Amino acid sequence: MMTQFCNICCFIFIFINVFQISPSHADNAVPVLLWGGSINSDLTSAVNPFLKSTSEEFDLFLRKTLENSPPVLLYIKDNLCIEDLVKHKQHLQKVISSDSLRYFPAVEKAVNTIEDLPSYNQTYNDYVDSISDGQLLIVPISNLDVIPETYKTIKDSSPNLIAILTGKACSYRRSERIKRDTYVNNTTEPFIVASDRVLFYASKPLLLKLGNNTEIELPLKPTVSDDSGKTPLSCKLSMKFNIPNSISLAFMFEVETPGYYTLKTVNYQFSDATVNEKNLTTNTTIVFPFNFSYHCSQNIIFENSSTILNITNLQVQLYTKLAKDGEKVFSDAYDCIGFTTIPIWAGIFVTAILALIMIWALTMIIDIRTMDRFDDPKGKTITISAQE
Ligand SMILES: *[C@@H]1O[C@H](CO)[C@@H](O)[C@H](O)[C@H]1NC(C)=O
Ligand SMILES: *[C@@H]1O[C@H](CO)[C@@H](O)[C@H](O)[C@H]1NC(C)=O
Ligand SMILES: *[C@@H]1O[C@H](CO)[C@@H](O)[C@H](O)[C@H]1NC(C)=O
Ligand SMILES: *[C@@H]1O[C@H](CO)[C@@H](O)[C@H](O)[C@H]1NC(C)=O
Ligand SMILES: *[C@@H]1O[C@H](CO)[C@@H](O)[C@H](O)[C@H]1NC(C)=O
Ligand SMILES: *[C@@H]1O[C@H](CO)[C@@H](O)[C@H](O)[C@H]1NC(C)=O
Ligand SMILES: *[C@@H]1O[C@H](CO)[C@@H](O)[C@H](O)[C@H]1NC(C)=O
Ligand SMILES: *[C@@H]1O[C@H](CO)[C@@H](O)[C@H](O)[C@H]1NC(C)=O
Ligand SMILES: *[C@@H]1O[C@H](CO)[C@@H](O)[C@H](O)[C@H]1NC(C)=O
Repeated sequence: MMTQFCNICCFIFIFINVFQISPSHADNAVPVLLWGGSINSDLTSAVNPFLKSTSEEFDLFLRKTLENSPPVLLYIKDNLCIEDLVKHKQHLQKVISSDSLRYFPAVEKAVNTIEDLPSYNQTYNDYVDSISDGQLLIVPISNLDVIPETYKTIKDSSPNLIAILTGKACSYRRSERIKRDTYVNNTTEPFIVASDRVLFYASKPLLLKLGNNTEIELPLKPTVSDDSGKTPLSCKLSMKFNIPNSISLAFMFEVETPGYYTLKTVNYQFSDATVNEKNLTTNTTIVFPFNFSYHCSQNIIFENSSTILNITNLQVQLYTKLAKDGEKVFSDAYDCIGFTTIPIWAGIFVTAILALIMIWALTMIIDIRTMDRFDDPKGKTITISAQE
């Protein structure tokens, strides 16, 4: 009855898909697969993708199924998730082709429940050919591939054999879930500002640290304007934030090298007073050609003494004139992580060593001298005196 197993796999697939959307799931629940002996498959009630069986329910089921104490072979994998079952579908199909199969998608404390069965004596011997009634053989496995072989061996001598496959935990899914959560958790909106000439993006609101150790998350929608700076090509992007007191930031894009914009200085003003003005500078070299955007996934810090402006994931571009609203897009980006990253240096280094060895070998080969004098059969023979 291959179709039945396929049905289950189909259910498992649906379950996984449903699971990825559904935020709730059983933290310490693992899938359980039972087959062999006289277990009756009951697909309709067993395979409900939302069904999480409690330890008690599973215990009840076990006691009913194992009433006559048939021999039980228990495979325990440290980490077993439904995904593993799907991945090893073909391997498992070799042995689970009979119609006696029960599948529980999520059972709490499955291993403990099985081990606590009172009517069974437990064995841990790895090399067992047969199991008698009332015996529970526990086989820890690290790979589902070993199941068909061991199962067949024991099944031959113990025809009533019931096999159970389960795991101690399903940690793969749990860790994945945590990762996804941190990603989803409280995503703050990105900071996007567009003036006539400049498009400015940061993945998080700008962080401003003031002298007295207060950290301000600047609001997302400042008043923006730009004007040309010292030269017509350079540009000064001003943002004004009205958080109780007004804070102004002016990003100075200069053209220090023809064809390239340089951003070195941010002019910071607190509550419009020139006394509170400071020129914040950065150590990151922000230089990018015309018609390109600049991107940096590291935090960019503009600072002057204790005033710090912290920009996460900056991307910025200047246009000759910004197209109509809604067409503001970044073109190709110059990234702050240069071409020569550490792996590239490593590659170049190794290649250089190999090249040196090659050159050395070639010079050695070229240096080999072949004989330039040969024995002339008609002429005098070359004699080498033995006394020498
Ligand atoms: C378990 O082992 C004990 C002692 O070895 C034995 O007396 C008992 O009958 C066994 N139980 C079963 C169910 O085989
Ligand atoms: C977001 O996730 C991080 C890391 O898990 C946590 O420290 C932080 O408190 C979470 N934020 C909220 C608002 O839940
Ligand atoms: C993010 O978390 C803060 C508290 O840390 C909360 O005030 C804010 O409403 C949350 N935002 C979203 C979108 O959940
Ligand atoms: C820090 O300084 C700013 C202005 O300089 C002021 O508005 C703010 O209240 C100060 N914060 C603290 C905690 O002193
Ligand atoms: C800090 O700002 C002051 C005033 O704008 C300026 O004179 C000074 O050069 C700046 N310091 C640095 C390191 O940029
Ligand atoms: C900041 O720099 C600009 C030129 O980049 C200069 O005109 C201005 O005077 C500076 N401000 C301070 C306070 O040094
Ligand atoms: C920038 O460079 C100056 C001097 O080299 C140094 O004092 C300062 O700590 C650096 N700032 C950052 C954010 O690395
Ligand atoms: C590139 O930039 C220069 C100067 O800003 C401008 O004149 C030119 O039209 C731009 N080219 C394209 C293809 O946008
Ligand atoms: C900038 O902000 C990030 C978090 O957004 C933080 O991890 C980093 O330490 C900050 N840098 C400075 C110099 O404050």
